[in-house]
Order: sequence, then structure tokens, then C-alpha cells
Amino acid sequence: MLDNLKRRGSEINLAAFKQLGIEFVHGDIRQHSDLEDISGNFDVLIEASAEPSVLAGIGGSPHYLLQTNLWGTLKCLEFARERAGVFVFLSTSRVYSIAPLKEIDLQETPTRFEITDRQTLPGVSRNGITESFPTHLPRSLYGATKLASELIVQEYVDTYAMRAIINRCGVIAGPGQFGKIDQGVFTLWVANHFYKRPLEYKGFGGGGKQVRDLLHPFDLFSLIKRQLAKIEQCSGEIFNVGGGIEVSTSLSELSALCREVVGHEVAVKENPETSAVDIPMYVSDYNKAAKAFDWQPRHSVRDIVGDIFRWIKENEAQLRGIFT
Ligand SMILES: NC(=O)c1ccc[n+]([C@@H]2O[C@H](COP(=O)([O-])OP(=O)(O)OC[C@H]3O[C@@H](n4cnc5c(N)ncnc54)[C@H](O)[C@@H]3O)[C@@H](O)[C@H]2O)c1
Repeated sequence: MLDNLKRRGSEINLAAFKQLGIEFVHGDIRQHSDLEDISGNFDVLIEASAEPSVLAGIGGSPHYLLQTNLWGTLKCLEFARERAGVFVFLSTSRVYSIAPLKEIDLQETPTRFEITDRQTLPGVSRNGITESFPTHLPRSLYGATKLASELIVQEYVDTYAMRAIINRCGVIAGPGQFGKIDQGVFTLWVANHFYKRPLEYKGFGGGGKQVRDLLHPFDLFSLIKRQLAKIEQCSGEIFNVGGGIEVSTSLSELSALCREVVGHEVAVKENPETSAVDIPMYVSDYNKAAKAFDWQPRHSVRDIVGDIFRWIKENEAQLRGIFT
């Protein structure tokens, strides 16, 4: 496992990796020499390093984002071509264009937005967003770096007969993720309930009705294992990967669940101001992956919140001050 430990708190996971016998290399995917220093060949390279915030580059320089998510990813891809042969790319639902995502017809229930049956765009139904949803309009700098990388991954498959797979993930959430306001917000939500810190429903009227699907890392891991077993049949393909409509929540529903699981209530401010890159609803329609790999997520929203809560409780002192 290689990581430059840029993500605040990521060094805390190293002890657990050591216990599991996972070798850690402190390196940066932007640095050719850091990859070159690694000896030997590999069966698979899973590219999961990134600047993962959709707000990255907004109001400042996109340099780190472009260098890591584009240049660094391509370095990993080339490293995989030379040394691994199989490349698994963790892409994102953020490759889908923002304007069409905002055009999805929604209805409002007391606790969440819901997708209606009245849709005019391709790739959307009550089950969520499929791989055919539009990507051709702006989708944030973060989304663009991932989409651009996807294209090159597919060219490597075509040009070098390389075996690779692209997973467009919805929200991944679970223990070991160092949630912050612009990424990992579900972990942050549980953490703030635990540490009794206030929160904010931001955007879309300020009622906390925005919805996302969540995927437990163990469910992602089980999918990747199944994909690797069938890599010859699915190389170069793109899959939407997430918890789907069954494992989705609004922030308002999440607050209610956190109150129950954590046992604290915190103040949640209502802020109707919506960020230009925010969207009211994203749920992965993972039907293609389910059929191809006989897979489905096993962990519910309650399981995920419970696992995050236990992790924070067991590491209370060490994690205090990490989530911001
Ligand atoms: N968490 C989600 O909801 C989500 C959703 C869709 C896609 N993804 C993708 O999944 C992957 C993992 O995301 P995550 O949520 O675990 O994010 P994360 O920030 O927790 O993990 C990314 C890791 O990459 C490391 N890193 C950053 N820049 C690096 C560099 N230049 N060289 C080496 N390491 C570097 C960070 O230190 C961090 O440990 C990313 O590719 C992300 O884009 C995540």
C-alpha cells in the first residue's frame, strides 16, 4: 500500500495495516521515483489515491488536484502496465454532468427528495443513475480529472490489451475514513454527534433533504474480488457502484439515525445557500454490476453508521480533533 499521507488522519490507519500484514510505502503517485523504488511485480494495482473533494480547485489553484488525480493516476496506470497487468480504477459518480443531475425530476417527502417516474433524460429511473447518464457537460474539476483518467484507462485496454476495470463509486463511507465537510461528510456527521458538535444542512432549502447512497468499504472489497475473478470478460468496462436506493439516506434521516445510534442530539443549522457543484440527489443504479458479478451490497445505512460509531468510540482520544 502506497500513500503520501496527505489526508489528515490517514497515518492513524497504519497500525491497523501493520497488524494485517500489509506493507506500507510512504510515497507520492506524482513522483516517478517513488513508484520506481518499489521492487517486484504485482497481480493487481488498485488506484484509490486521490484528492477526492468535489470542491478542490474552486476558489484557488487546481494544481494538486490535476497533478494527483490526472497526472498521478496516469503514472499509476503506466506502472500497472509495466508491473501489474491489471488495473482497478476507483472513479466517481461525479463524472456525471451537474446540470442534468439538477434537472432530474424530484418530489419532496417529509424527510427526503425522491426521483419520480417522470424523467426525460437517459440513464435515470427511480432506481437511480445508470452508466448511460450524460457526462458531456461540466461536472466539476474533480469529476473532470476522473473522467479524463477513465478515457485513458480505456485506451490502455485497447492499445496494450491491458486488463482494467472502472468503478464509478457513489459515496463510500465507513470506519477508517477521516470525514471532513467537503468529503466524507457521513463519517463527519457521526463524529459530530459523538463529540457533540453542531452541524449544518447546506443548500436545497436547508432542510437536509439531499440524498446519497452509501457503500460500506467491505461491500466494495467484495465487488472488486468478484470483478478480478472475471476480469477477462469485463476488461475496459465501466460500472456504477454504490449502495443503491436501498442503502441511501438524506441528511435529515441521517441525523435521526445518529441520534438513535450515538445517543446524542446536536444542533443543525439550516443554510439554504447551495454550492454551484452540489446536487440534491445521487443514487447509484448498480444493476449492471449486480448482474455481471452476482453482487449486491450487504451493509445497510444503519450498519455503516454503527460501524463508524464503534470505530470512533474505540479510538476516541486519538480521533478527537481529526474530523473538521
Ligand atoms: N469516499 C467516497 O465517497 C468516494 C466516492 C467516489 C469515489 N471515491 C474515490 O475513491 C478513492 C478513495 O477515496 P477516499 O474517500 O478513501 O479518499 P481518501 O482521501 O480517504 O483516500 C485517498 C488517499 O490518497 C492519498 N493521497 C492523496 N494524494 C496522494 C498522492 N499524490 N500520492 C499518494 N497518495 C495520495 C491520501 O493521503 C489518502 O489517504 C479516491 O480515488 C476517490 O476519488 C471516493
